[in-house]
Amino acid sequence: MAKGFDTSPCRPQDLGRFEIHRRDGISRIGRLHTRHGVLQTPMLLPVVNPNIRTIEPREMWDDFGVQGLITNSYVIWKHDKLREPALASGVHDLLDFPGVIVTDSGTFQSYVYGDVEVGVEQIVDFQRDIGVDIGTMLDVFGRPDQTEEELQHAVDETVARAFSSLETAGENLLLNGPIQGGLHSHLRADSASKMGAVEGPHRGFAVHPIGGIVPLMERHRYLDLVKIILATRETIPLERPIHLFGCGHPMLFPMCIALGADLFDSAAYALFARDGRLLTPDGTVRIDELVEWPIASRTLHGHTPEEVRKMGKEERTNLLARFNLEITQAELARCRQAIRTGTLWALVEQRSHSSPELREAFLHIAEVISKGSLSENIVGQRMIEASAPIRSGSVKWSEKADHRPHLIHARGLIDDRWRPPPFDWTGKPMNNPKMLLISGSVPPWRDSVRGDVIRSLRRDPQCIPIIVMKAGHLPFDLEDWSPLCHIQAVSFEPGMSSGLMDGALAENLDVKGPSSEEPSSDKDDDAIRTWLERSQISAKCSVLLGMDRNMAWEWLEGMTVQRSSTGRIKNVFDADGAHVLSPRLNDGGLSLTTSGAIALHALDAGLPEVVSIDDAVPFLRAGRNVIHGFIEGTRNAVRPGLPVLVVDRSGALVAHGVPTSTAEEMKRFSKGIAVRVRGGVVNEDKL
Ligand code: GUN
Repeated sequence: MAKGFDTSPCRPQDLGRFEIHRRDGISRIGRLHTRHGVLQTPMLLPVVNPNIRTIEPREMWDDFGVQGLITNSYVIWKHDKLREPALASGVHDLLDFPGVIVTDSGTFQSYVYGDVEVGVEQIVDFQRDIGVDIGTMLDVFGRPDQTEEELQHAVDETVARAFSSLETAGENLLLNGPIQGGLHSHLRADSASKMGAVEGPHRGFAVHPIGGIVPLMERHRYLDLVKIILATRETIPLERPIHLFGCGHPMLFPMCIALGADLFDSAAYALFARDGRLLTPDGTVRIDELVEWPIASRTLHGHTPEEVRKMGKEERTNLLARFNLEITQAELARCRQAIRTGTLWALVEQRSHSSPELREAFLHIAEVISKGSLSENIVGQRMIEASAPIRSGSVKWSEKADHRPHLIHARGLIDDRWRPPPFDWTGKPMNNPKMLLISGSVPPWRDSVRGDVIRSLRRDPQCIPIIVMKAGHLPFDLEDWSPLCHIQAVSFEPGMSSGLMDGALAENLDVKGPSSEEPSSDKDDDAIRTWLERSQISAKCSVLLGMDRNMAWEWLEGMTVQRSSTGRIKNVFDADGAHVLSPRLNDGGLSLTTSGAIALHALDAGLPEVVSIDDAVPFLRAGRNVIHGFIEGTRNAVRPGLPVLVVDRSGALVAHGVPTSTAEEMKRFSKGIAVRVRGGVVNEDKL
């Protein structure tokens, strides 16, 4: 277990800032800067009841890798025996916890017990005085069964209390600004935009928890939960972490994280343990009739369920709470790792089978994403555009894949940008292109069908080879696009429509059996091979860089190439011999060189651009990354993972690289890397 996180306070100017470190679509591994170290998200803040410590906070830190916890400031405030020591030596001392301490404000108590006696400023004052890292304002809990009017009141009253809460928090206490609104999407969106816009004297809210959802989770109403997250996400500031108040069942983590949730908190690990229930990523399991454990764990290793059942209540609760916390932490680690490997959606699909209610919620998200290209569906569209469309590795699926955001993104780019090459291999304009549909073949298609393609092209130069693959149609000139070329499925219902074939003339070529023989190398075949290569590079320029296909074709006139030992193009040189592009062999992507960036910028080829503020330009020219907060704006479609040019305000090229953020994020974030620069461009005026 991870031990000894760095608890040094962040730089004062970074306090409360959130940065994205890794991403898979809108899910993110983030870093929130606090006075007790950097909180890595997605993470769970275990709820610690200061009166009943089922697991000591110090043990959580030492043995369970818990970097931050949440406790209740109202409970501390109410009990003299807690309040006095907290005021005297701080909440970290009171709980004996060196990491990040978040506190709630008493709102939940008011939901459970009626009113609370504490005032709006009073509770923030108290959280500040006991040295909390992230406190919570006293929001008004909106229950799902309340009328729209009552919920509107909860939203408005919470907003009305926001400024004075931020003012009272002062310079050092970060604050949670909860989002209310019950089941009403428009109220959630309204609450998120208003709470997101409140600026205190020092800063706005550091985190936005989504509140009022505990009653939904208690009744397994996951579809409602998902609808609330989606509605909130439409208007919530992108640069702030989202916390799901009271959500902590591991079964829910992948789906919520895939929708952009960053923080969770829950007492479930202890509450479920008290009545003999185990939390697992597939659901809750009672120990009553267990013969063997449903999942291996360090905590229960060496104990049988029967032995645990026979334990005294306290001993059993203590043990099961540790199991629950261990499994919770393990599932979060799994989600973070899935973000790193770009496989979170596969995990979401897998977990969606844990319960009918979860499946229902998943199918709703799938529908939202598959309609994501429609402009009114903001969140679905964001999910797609934020998902890098090229990634190495394979995609496995056992059901329709029309909801995997990165595949939809890839498909959308092909539909929107791919056009036939302007000339055929004989040099005639491509006036009557006919799609040659190649089916029955397996990847790598450059090996399995190239011979057939060359033969067909020799017969009919005006044909365009198109592969009929498991995820729809793929032009042969994009045949190594990963993961489209690495789909593992037994049988497949395409599900993903492709605009590629709309109204096109087509002929079928069924390639059966092993790869066809490569035709002999006569003059025509050489011309066809050269045409295929120029076709491939120009297709990638248009689909991945956003260039017009005809312009790309022309630009590549006279290109030469360097090949790998297996004969694939590794480097592309322009007619003057400058190395301009490097097709990537591992994922089918295209890397731009600095000479290529200069040439395409000079051509005004329509590549996406990030405009830097003046102060950062010398650093970018020296090859440093583009950092959030130093960006003036963007032009054209900036997509994470696809090359961009970096220009100054006057439009002069200063660098090129690969963005890790979306254009919207570049507008809002103030910390972290926005573009990984691959090369700076020296200022020729100064040479
Ligand atoms: N804990 C669970 N739900 C809520 C909520 O809506 N507001 C606050 N402050 N705490 C909560």
